[in-house]
Amino acid sequence: MTEKDRKRSAGCRAADLVEDGMVIGLGTGSTTAYALERLAARIQDGLRIQGIPTSLQAASLARELAIPLTTLDDYPEPDMAIDGADQVDDRLRLIKGRGAALTREKVVAAASRELVIVADETKLVTTLNAPVPVEVIPFALQPVILGIRSIGGEPVVRVGVRKDGPVITDNGNLILDCSFGSLASPEETEGLLSLMPGVLSCGLFCEFVDKTTVILGGDQGCRVVKR
Ligand code: 5RP
Repeated sequence: MTEKDRKRSAGCRAADLVEDGMVIGLGTGSTTAYALERLAARIQDGLRIQGIPTSLQAASLARELAIPLTTLDDYPEPDMAIDGADQVDDRLRLIKGRGAALTREKVVAAASRELVIVADETKLVTTLNAPVPVEVIPFALQPVILGIRSIGGEPVVRVGVRKDGPVITDNGNLILDCSFGSLASPEETEGLLSLMPGVLSCGLFCEFVDKTTVILGGDQGCRVVKR
């Protein structure tokens, strides 16, 4: 099985958990895209749902697939959010934000009754150790860089791949990718980062573990992990 196959099987399994009438947070990234494709196929078969996109990417894919969209203004408590992750540990804490959509993803995850994370099984780790994305307002960039260094992180401004200069998020901000090495206490790091003035949010998602289901796509099919 290729990585794409593993992602597709996780995404499809998540889409099959969706029930008629639900309002679903639509995450960002390549694995969630498979869930959206499967949802679109189910809509063709009569499923009625509405989606709340977490990024311009998710909104445009949902429109292409004819998934009806709504907003948190109309539905502030979605039934479920389906989203991807960059790392997951065995306590279901996450690092997210490779797609720079972490702030809206966190808002939708917090608002939703259930969070379903879809990932290729290689994202499961014993200890979270990937760089943590931090969304920061441009005005606060330098003080936030100093603040992150003071708690042991090494921040790097994320730059565009097919654009010169920094990545600008859907909210008009910058991303700092912050290396901390192995995170002994992800909750503490999340708390410290989130409290820095000018930080909008960080890619550590530690507070949703009780409502999180992780679906890991592997060579032998999907593994579903819950607390
Ligand atoms: C975007 C994210 C993505 O959900 C995460 O990066 C996983 O992406 P993919 O499914 O493409 O591996 O957090 O901000």
